[in-house]
Amino acid sequence: MSYVQVKQLSKSFGKQRVFDAIDFTIDQGEFITLLGPSGCGKSTLLRCLAGLNPVDQGQIWVDGENITDLSPQEREMGMVFQSYALFPNMTVAENIGFGLKMKSTPAAQARSLIQRFVELVELKGKEDRYPHQLSGGQCQRVALARALVMQPRILLLDEPLSALDAKIRKSLRQQIRDIQTELNLTTVFVTHDQEEAMLMSDRIFLMHQGEIVQQGSPESIYTQPANEFVAGFMGHYNLLDKQVVKALFDLDSPHKVAVRPESIYVKEEGRQYEAHISSPKTAHVLNHQLLGNVIRYKVQIEQQEMTVDLLNRSSERLLPAGSRLELLFNLNEMQPVSP
Ligand SMILES: Nc1ncnc2c1ncn2[C@@H]1O[C@H](COP(=O)(O)OP(=O)(O)O)[C@@H](O)[C@H]1O
Ligand SMILES: [Mg+2]
Repeated sequence: MSYVQVKQLSKSFGKQRVFDAIDFTIDQGEFITLLGPSGCGKSTLLRCLAGLNPVDQGQIWVDGENITDLSPQEREMGMVFQSYALFPNMTVAENIGFGLKMKSTPAAQARSLIQRFVELVELKGKEDRYPHQLSGGQCQRVALARALVMQPRILLLDEPLSALDAKIRKSLRQQIRDIQTELNLTTVFVTHDQEEAMLMSDRIFLMHQGEIVQQGSPESIYTQPANEFVAGFMGHYNLLDKQVVKALFDLDSPHKVAVRPESIYVKEEGRQYEAHISSPKTAHVLNHQLLGNVIRYKVQIEQQEMTVDLLNRSSERLLPAGSRLELLFNLNEMQPVSP
């Protein structure tokens, strides 16, 4: 049986329905990411799991226990928010130990727990600092330790990295994942950043307007988008009308077809290609964006504009607008997507 079971969960604010009869399960130790655009209901769902928002209908089970009507404290979940919400007049150690104090944990035990988690989040030596003496990334590590020190059954993280600058975000996301793995802690992480979701998660629940429209491994969501929304959200997929697919590739599809920009490549002279590679298509470069390791070209093939990502190899020059290219498509990578 799954560690977490969410059954037919519904939530509205007044007349506005946020989600309706949502179902999912999470295994013990799994790292799940709720991914989706702003306003799709991620925070509301997380807060319902935490008990901070009452639900209208449905049930939440954890480890064989129906926790739907338990208070937030009784649920034994740890929560970290985007705003660190530290007590400004308390030191790092006092912030981390706050929950232990509330639970009247014996002092010696509290000290050793605080020390353990201070070390785990790499804040050793900073125990006596106050929040205003810490960087944003350090504050967030205090918030993380404060949640972890209570040894929660589930860790809930609501966009904990969104307020941090890019470099800190990248190191902290790895650190969160490492700690989560070390503790084998069941975790639900919320983000609107698909790259973050791809890098961190065992499974992604992709949300759109209160529905989980696709769930699966990062790999499966990225390479097999179930519908147009997922294809649009997960990458820079080209969405080709079925008429275009028929005209260009002589393929019949019931729906639009999603083509990843990096699955298109330039024909090399004199090279033999396998049967699943299309015949060459003549394309004209419209413009390009230099992304660093990748150059993203906007090209036109017959009437169709497409995005093509080519590796920025030192031997290749940037192709100016108007350049002609012979492009090849991997026909196995053409993914029909429902509306
Ligand atoms: N406390 C609240 N009262 C009324 N409406 C809310 C409240 N919290 C969230 N909502 C609404 O619920 C929807 C989902 O919000 P939210 O869960 O915060 O989305 P996300 O976290 O994905 O950005 C939004 O339309 C938002 O305006
Ligand atoms: Mg939110």
